[in-house]
Amino acid sequence: MSFNRRDVLQRSVALGAALGLPGLALAEDWLTLRAAPAALKILPIDKPVEALWAYNNRYPGPPLTVRQGSEMRVRLHNDLPQDTTVHWHGIRVPNAMDGVPGMTQAAVAPGQQFEYRFTVPDAGTFWYHPHVNTYEQVGRGLAGALVVQERDPVDVDADWLWVLTDQRLDRTGRLVESFGDLHDSAHAGRIGNVVFINGSLDQDFKAQPFTRIRLRLVAATSARMFALRFVSARAWLWALDGHPVAVQALSEPLTLAPGQRADVVLEVPASGEALRIQDMFYGDRGYELASIKAQGPSRKQVQAAPKALPDNPLPSIGAPRQAAVQLTLQGGAMSREATREALWLINGKAMKSEGGHGHMPALFSLPAGQSLDLHLQNQTMWHHPLHFHGVWLRQKTGDQWGPVRDTVLLQPREKTTVRLFADQPGHWMVHCHVLSHQAHGMMGHFEVT
Ligand code: C2O
Ligand code: CU
Repeated sequence: MSFNRRDVLQRSVALGAALGLPGLALAEDWLTLRAAPAALKILPIDKPVEALWAYNNRYPGPPLTVRQGSEMRVRLHNDLPQDTTVHWHGIRVPNAMDGVPGMTQAAVAPGQQFEYRFTVPDAGTFWYHPHVNTYEQVGRGLAGALVVQERDPVDVDADWLWVLTDQRLDRTGRLVESFGDLHDSAHAGRIGNVVFINGSLDQDFKAQPFTRIRLRLVAATSARMFALRFVSARAWLWALDGHPVAVQALSEPLTLAPGQRADVVLEVPASGEALRIQDMFYGDRGYELASIKAQGPSRKQVQAAPKALPDNPLPSIGAPRQAAVQLTLQGGAMSREATREALWLINGKAMKSEGGHGHMPALFSLPAGQSLDLHLQNQTMWHHPLHFHGVWLRQKTGDQWGPVRDTVLLQPREKTTVRLFADQPGHWMVHCHVLSHQAHGMMGHFEVT
């Protein structure tokens, strides 16, 4: 076998990340993402799962690892039977690199290529996925993590990445291809029956007693939410949606909705014990997601909580200069507003495809360098993780503005206020990250002038 330089480089990037030792993509080199149909052995049976779509024949896509401040250069090849793009979820990119067809670029047709090139200003855990027929393309497996490493190494013993996905499989291990099913779409979305960590069902891990692990969690599911409990471990929250938070011990389950990420620091328990990670989101359907067994030579236990991660260089932007804007989420099964054509709505309108934004007015606009308060009202009976492209936000709790995020989870019937901060001009999307809600209308756009 012979490798050219790019192959070797990509292998080392991918391998390094799998081993928890992320390699560095060299700034002067191009990475390749090839989106194509795939049959992959992701189940502990002989038969591969057919009808997947994958980047570089991997499920999930290869983890891309770069150093903060460096330039990403990614060449997308489309070998799918339909158009595609790549969206860099949570990365502050210029509008032209945001991957929204008909809004920030032309869709990449089958057989065509597109070059993405941008610098990554913020360190943290991000991800990438298509933005065309997202419910089907992400649903079939097109999604991967983008890890941006801090400029200086941070104080942990290990750096682990877990991309969480799920699939709906029948008893024989075949993919149930009912993407876009109307019943799913009108309710909680397409929730799978098998949950994968990094595309695998082998969810028993090992680590040395009392080591501290940075666990990067990416919820790359189409609809499934998580409420993770770390049993018999000391655990701290370190970052949300890529951005550092004030370090806090995790006492409540950590909620992760589609699109969201969290970095936690886990302290491995004493030798022979296991740290169990349980998902409690669906109440009585709780299950054990993974366990980490303490094994091997023990470290000395450190008492102090980990130090906070260094802040990201977000421009400082003051209080809003314009009046707050109202966004009302409506629709779903049995609601008065929903129709077959428009199951889900924002402010009474359903946007059915990104390309169609020209027919729809922007929901609001704000100048770059300014902020804007949004009153969000979820009038539906379902959860909606609302993702804003191109801006960052903080949710109001009491009199406080919460941590920096790019995706805010609205509980059924919840009313809340978020403050958006804008620094890049352009037309940007806002949509529910339950992908069949997005596909059936819960999508809109706004303008940063
Ligand atoms: Cu993660 Cu518009 O998407
Ligand atoms: Cu939704």
